[in-house]
Amino acid sequence: MSMIAETDYGTPPRQHELTVTLEIDGMSVTVPAGTSVMRAAALAGISIPKLCATDSLEPFGSCRLCLVEIEGRRGTPASCTTPAEAGMKVSTQNDRLAKLRRGVMELYISDHPLDCLTCAANGDCELQDMAGAVGLRDVRYGFDGDNHLNQAKDESNPYFTFDPSKCIVCSRCVRACEEQQGTFALTLDGRGFLSKIAAGMNEDFLDSECVSCGACVKACPTATLIEKRVIDMGQPERQVLTTCAYCGVGCSFVAELQGDRVVRMTPHKDGKANYGHSCVKGRFAWGYASHKDRITRPMIRASIEEAWREVSWQEAIAHAASEFKRIQAKYGRGAVGGITSSRCTNEETFLVQKLVRAAFGNNNTDTCARVCHSPTGYGLKTTFGTSAGTQDFESVMQADVVMVIGANPTDAHPVFASRMKRRLREGAKLIVIDPRRIDLVRTPHVEASYHLQLRPGTNVALIDAMAHTVATEGLVDGYFVEERCDPIDYRLWLEFVRKPENSPEAVERITGVPAADIRAAARLFATAGNAAIYYGLGVTEHSQGTTMVMGMANLAMATGNLGRQGVGVNPLRGQNNVQGSCDMGSFPHELPGYRHVSDKVARASFESAWGVALDDEPGLRIPNMLDAALDGSFKGIYIQGEDIAQSDPNIKHVTAALAAMECVVVQDLFLNETASYAHVFLPGASFLEKDGTFTNAERRISRVRRAIKPLAGFADWETTMALSNALGYPMSYSHPSEIMDEIARLTPTFAGVTYDLLDRVGSVQWPCNEGAPDGTPVLHVDGFVRGKGKFMITEYVPTDERTGPRFPLLLTTGRILTQYNVGAQSRRTENTVWHREDVLEIHPHDAENRGIRDGDRVALMSRSGETTLRAHISERVQPGVVYTTFHHPETGANVVTTEFSDWATNCPEYKVTAVEVRPTNRWADWQLEHDDFVRRTTQIAAAK
Ligand code: SF4
Ligand code: SF4
Ligand code: SF4
Ligand code: FES
Repeated sequence: MSMIAETDYGTPPRQHELTVTLEIDGMSVTVPAGTSVMRAAALAGISIPKLCATDSLEPFGSCRLCLVEIEGRRGTPASCTTPAEAGMKVSTQNDRLAKLRRGVMELYISDHPLDCLTCAANGDCELQDMAGAVGLRDVRYGFDGDNHLNQAKDESNPYFTFDPSKCIVCSRCVRACEEQQGTFALTLDGRGFLSKIAAGMNEDFLDSECVSCGACVKACPTATLIEKRVIDMGQPERQVLTTCAYCGVGCSFVAELQGDRVVRMTPHKDGKANYGHSCVKGRFAWGYASHKDRITRPMIRASIEEAWREVSWQEAIAHAASEFKRIQAKYGRGAVGGITSSRCTNEETFLVQKLVRAAFGNNNTDTCARVCHSPTGYGLKTTFGTSAGTQDFESVMQADVVMVIGANPTDAHPVFASRMKRRLREGAKLIVIDPRRIDLVRTPHVEASYHLQLRPGTNVALIDAMAHTVATEGLVDGYFVEERCDPIDYRLWLEFVRKPENSPEAVERITGVPAADIRAAARLFATAGNAAIYYGLGVTEHSQGTTMVMGMANLAMATGNLGRQGVGVNPLRGQNNVQGSCDMGSFPHELPGYRHVSDKVARASFESAWGVALDDEPGLRIPNMLDAALDGSFKGIYIQGEDIAQSDPNIKHVTAALAAMECVVVQDLFLNETASYAHVFLPGASFLEKDGTFTNAERRISRVRRAIKPLAGFADWETTMALSNALGYPMSYSHPSEIMDEIARLTPTFAGVTYDLLDRVGSVQWPCNEGAPDGTPVLHVDGFVRGKGKFMITEYVPTDERTGPRFPLLLTTGRILTQYNVGAQSRRTENTVWHREDVLEIHPHDAENRGIRDGDRVALMSRSGETTLRAHISERVQPGVVYTTFHHPETGANVVTTEFSDWATNCPEYKVTAVEVRPTNRWADWQLEHDDFVRRTTQIAAAK
């Protein structure tokens, strides 16, 4: 099979300004001081047999297979744990070493089931390889003595098995769980012959703290820890390098296949976002791509009360196009619009907004970033000049203080969280600002210095109080501010934050956070050296989301924490391509590359390339489209890969608006919630079925490569192209690389991006152009993109959503590790073992006051609606606050969220809803109606 090369140098690289030169088997090698003899040899092309060493983990020195001779030294040291020294003369091969190595291998093999031919790892087993490498032909020890061959398998994990009879106790799995993943779920239990690998407190993997990241499985050199798919299907035949389609970390994966069936997804060691690590979703939860619920035939119907009718692609596309044309002729050009998908590729997103602007002839295009990170775009563009995070992920390894605000990285950005935890274990300090006690507050060997457990909705008051401390205690980095920031804005800001009402003592009663803690956290942030901010939707999904983004930008500028490694303001973006969908011009006011539609020069370049006149007025945002639908002026919508009937706030309002439209076209993998209101269904293609690129949270553009043919016949970009052609605006691309070429021609920050470049270097971070041909890991290095950094006044304004006697609790929402957003994908995998339903976390005091016991069904009620779910009593939430996830449509968490939104961007205020919770023994009316409605609206007529 064609293999994607991953060289294993045996031990990790070392950074050192000094180098040492040594001689290995007569060859001179120069390496950084601290490098192991094993790695030095590997760099010189000399391979030393090894079992317990691998270059993703610190060496352990247990197997004794890698021994070498060093001139002037006694014995045969292990090359993996021996540092290279200047002048050393090392022999890696001679008869004595060969004999010793054979002896070691004999011991291993004598206690190993000799079933290589029927073993799932046959052909991909390092024990087998090493037996060959050391020339082991027969085994003298036999099976007479004690052995481990009859130990029971642990098959509790849905995705991998643990077969201790094959374990060589090399502890690579233990080290992978500690060093790479940071979960510490495995231990090496017992000593000598009795030593064995144990999960948790000697329990099954499923019952232990294991988060199923797969790092131990990848590290295991034998078939002890192995994917169940490999056991079932055998070894893969071919590989395709691609990018995970779940979250904004953008992990690089090797899809390993037999024919057109995926055997496994293995994280790619050279992937610059993940360096060989993964989480349970990307690694294992891809089975949705071939789930029986996939719709692979286009369908149409005259009304949503009718059953779906399967039709040809041609008929479906022609019908959608004629409906859009009819609506525009009857109600006007602005009566239709489109929603691009942050799950789809850059190229596909670019085409959807192009269709809206060029074929519909308006700017009614929007994307799900509207409901997540639109305040990031607005806030960072205003203060720094670029609508994106400032750093690469690797930057966190240089941070001295990490401040995590309104984000839950271990659940929502797990691979980045593992890297962050590694830095925290090395000694960086942690400040967590979150209403809920997220895992990061205390995990093995990591404990936050401060957890500022504020009341939901009071972020801005808190960040202003931190800024007040910095400004009044002489902690401003005067040099940075003078050099880099606008002096007038700075002076106004200084005057503002110094006001007594912004002092920690004054805001203590607003936020509920003790003033002393706010002051101490601010001092730590300002004086640590490199201080970095990482934040999530707990910042943006508020009525003051944009203000808070600006508040964080102010704090970073005031303390000089921008423009180098280890610092910055970093949004942890949710969906795999939400950064890309924003970059590609999905918003109604911006052309690709964040250029306003009223910008004549930018518009002219698109007009000349596309051969049409473009509207210079911003179009409708999603909430405006919905309102206009209810007003009767908006009648048709093309929705690619987004489920607004589950993900958007106040679902009843969303569905009423969808029901009021005359033509709803949904393009998706599944009949999602929105499809219940659709008239045309166009089957989508999963990430395995298409070529393109995704852009992750660090602006990294990575290739998505087609591993199998589209199940429905077309990739999503092809479908959009067909629709545009049917609408009368011709598009003709033969491959997504041509779309990227067009993007590069029209978007200055993408000018240097080509598929050739990506194939050559793996991935690049934009801007990538003449000035930065290799991309830009860190932004604003010598100056802000906008020129001078702009301090903004960030006055705290309480949300209109207030608690009161009827709704005394505050609901806030979030995600969990094993499910993803609306769950359309992750619910169709075995990840449901960990999370079958959304539950409501409630503090013991609030539960007791209401007579609620753990596991009880409760009614969750707000001014918008009511739903029923199960209660989980937890001290993670503070009294007065309840928390739930929104992964399951039956729960309908967004039935209760309100329509309040960010003042600047309309990003909904998901994170603050006043609610009441009561025990109940019935489902909410909404849920009963919903079940019935979905049953009716998802019927597919029997084929004729
Ligand atoms: S799957 Fe990940 S978390 Fe679980 S034991 Fe292995 S390394 Fe640890
Ligand atoms: S399970 Fe695999 S990695 Fe872990 S000790 Fe055994 S052989 Fe080594
Ligand atoms: S961290 Fe995100 S991108 Fe990486 S494997 Fe998990 S879901 Fe995929
Ligand atoms: S590889 Fe060096 S002791 Fe195992």
